[in-house]
Amino acid sequence: MLLSSDGYLSGEDISEALGVSRTAVWKHINKLREEGYKITSSTNRGYLIEKNAEVYSAFEIKRNLHTELIGREIYFYDETLSTNAAAKDCREAADGAVFVAVNQTGGRGRLGRSWVSGEDGVWFSLLLKPDILPAEVSLITLVAGLAVSAVIDGAGIKWPNDIILSGKKVCGILTEMSSEVTSLNYVVCGIGINLNIKEFPAELSDKATSVYIETGKLTPKAQFLASVLESFERYYLIFLEKGFDGCIDEYRKKCITLGKDVSIVRNGESFQAKAVDVSPAGELIIERENGDLEAVFSGEVSVRGLLGYS
Ligand code: BTN
Repeated sequence: MLLSSDGYLSGEDISEALGVSRTAVWKHINKLREEGYKITSSTNRGYLIEKNAEVYSAFEIKRNLHTELIGREIYFYDETLSTNAAAKDCREAADGAVFVAVNQTGGRGRLGRSWVSGEDGVWFSLLLKPDILPAEVSLITLVAGLAVSAVIDGAGIKWPNDIILSGKKVCGILTEMSSEVTSLNYVVCGIGINLNIKEFPAELSDKATSVYIETGKLTPKAQFLASVLESFERYYLIFLEKGFDGCIDEYRKKCITLGKDVSIVRNGESFQAKAVDVSPAGELIIERENGDLEAVFSGEVSVRGLLGYS
């Protein structure tokens, strides 16, 4: 009510509209102030809210969100271990439910690494229940990478799914699933975006960056997350309808790995090749020194000369 009112709104009008006492209104106003809204109160005129105060909450994300599936339910935590774990704990929630945390105390990265997750980043997980095969789930990670890269100016994708800004990692994606051999129960796609982080610990600063470090601008988290969710829905619905084929041209354009020398580690052996394409199945197509083309499914691929890490 306060956000859609042009000027002051009297406590009496609010209490009548909501059927609660004036004291209850006053208590809720204080609760909103605790959430970060700036609300002026005047004895004669009532309450006035500052419309562009930055608040990070499920309500603010929803208010900026125009989607059908993604974010139908939003679970918001001031602090949780990991949003991927929260999503798995709530696997009965709706398809498209989003789990967001201000802080993660045990944020997880790929390959068992930890993920630094303080309050200046955007950490969330999508609970998805698509009608696809377990073998196709890795494509959701590529779709998510494409969706994030589309909303960060100048970002590219290091195959399969690291989002890179100015040669450093700005976003990571950890997709997990629960399935039988041929049938999928659910997918949790966890996305961590270094949005407003001011600086990284020394051991990460040559590998990691943030949107703030690269642009000098702070971005409101709720609006930003809503735009990521909208972008995800856009590509995800194309993917569900047409498969990765429907996204592949845009993915190729964003994929900074293509045309680069890569080193492939397979079965403990490492060799050099050139990355030439991404296949409709999401594999990286590499060209060996003898001209042979091969598809790389998984395993660590390091892009030489592009990043300070592998
Ligand atoms: C990577 O190693 O690149 C993947 C990092 C994924 C981090 C995100 S943050 C939200 C979600 N919760 C987690 O614990 N991890 C993912």
